Amino acid sequence: MVQSRANISLDLHLKLDPRRVRESLERALRGGVADGRLAPGSALPPSRALAADLGIDRTTVTEAYAQLVAEGWLVARQGSATRVAPRPSLARAAPAERPEQVASCRYDLRAGFPDLTSFPRQEWLSAARAALADAPAETLGYGPPAGLSALREALAGYLGRARGVHARPDRVVVCAGFTAGLGLVATALRERGVRSIGVEQFGHASHRAILEAAGLKVVPLDVDDEGAVPDHLTGLGAVLLTPAHQFPLGVALSARRRAAFTAWAARTGAIVIEDDYDGEFRYDRRALGAVQALSPDQVVYAGTASKTLTPGLRLGWLVLPERLVTPVLDRQLDGHAQPAAIEQLTLAEFIDSGRYDRHIRRTRLVYRRRRDRLVTGLARRAPQLRVSGMSAGLHASVSLPNAAAEDAVVERARSRDLAIGSLGSFSAVDTPTRHGLVIGYATPPPHAYTTALARLFAALR
Ligand SMILES: Cc1ncc(COP(=O)(O)O)c(C=O)c1O
Repeated sequence: MVQSRANISLDLHLKLDPRRVRESLERALRGGVADGRLAPGSALPPSRALAADLGIDRTTVTEAYAQLVAEGWLVARQGSATRVAPRPSLARAAPAERPEQVASCRYDLRAGFPDLTSFPRQEWLSAARAALADAPAETLGYGPPAGLSALREALAGYLGRARGVHARPDRVVVCAGFTAGLGLVATALRERGVRSIGVEQFGHASHRAILEAAGLKVVPLDVDDEGAVPDHLTGLGAVLLTPAHQFPLGVALSARRRAAFTAWAARTGAIVIEDDYDGEFRYDRRALGAVQALSPDQVVYAGTASKTLTPGLRLGWLVLPERLVTPVLDRQLDGHAQPAAIEQLTLAEFIDSGRYDRHIRRTRLVYRRRRDRLVTGLARRAPQLRVSGMSAGLHASVSLPNAAAEDAVVERARSRDLAIGSLGSFSAVDTPTRHGLVIGYATPPPHAYTTALARLFAALR
């Protein structure tokens, strides 16, 4: 808690890096505004007072304030205190409702979860036992910011053979899920001068909020049947894409779009962040390899255990272009948010022993059957609807004519105790051009799937 002489108290959770005082002050202020600790309109302490409280140079504070004014986080008016800017765009980008906050329905067909009851508890426990029995004592310490070498090596091998990623252990950083990895990369990019990032027009609001919290301007890109449209990239320093299975529309990024995005990145030095959240699940043809393989120096590959195993593990991984390794590791050191060593060792053992591949093969089969039942049911019960995203992943999307139809179906489902998501809730713009539903068919436990589908078809009638 900083108690300034001007009597404005400010709890910034300041952890100033002595080598980069200004950057860490800017980061703390951005973080405070983004997560609402510094409310819109509230006054910041005068620069002299804050500098004295923190024991730093006043110019550092004035420069940090000026930078954040330029970025739109703060506003300054002659003769009055620097204040937190009103941030309507952030308000719109507030994280999507988390499942636990939504009035709970008995049946759930929202996207975002695997079947949590299918988590391989016994096999995970056996892997944990084997990993702990063999682990040298030093692996149980704080550990390197990149993650334990056993896991980085296992991931490099797995990603190379299963997803075609050019992965070397020294380019892999283990993080607390994709979400944490995105924050690390976004902050590192911002510190390297990136100002704006393109995102697919439909996606998670929470991901957009993370990018904004890092100080990046988020620019929505259109999405059509070939995936994100690489048309308005001028001025962008990065894009965030879901190439294997667009979230939530479900289309795959076409080969020519893959080439267009990577060529643009190579030409301009920009970075493509590839969110490969469900790339392991492809049903009708061979898995689409990662875009990263086309251009390992321009693409940050990001993967997660949240769909293949379970989100509760909080395990994800990045494969980075060489120039981003040190900046991302610096951010990891700042954040003190590495996944637990024992979970890392267990996942390494899970992969090395072949359990991970076996589990994915098994669950792919189960989800494929569920997908088939959804396809057949929709064709019979709601043949007028256009469906996309069925060939991969754990969700599909169904088109509806307008926002009113979207609301009506979601409401009819809710009245049948069934939760489903609307496309509109994933839109980065106020007036989306597409409407529909996002159906996550992996979520219900096996015994509930038949009823969940029956209620969905009734709501669609
Ligand atoms: C598009 C997308 N990306 C990434 C993730 C995984 O995020 P995390 O690894 O933080 O659980 C999800 C999970 O819901 C997702 O839907």
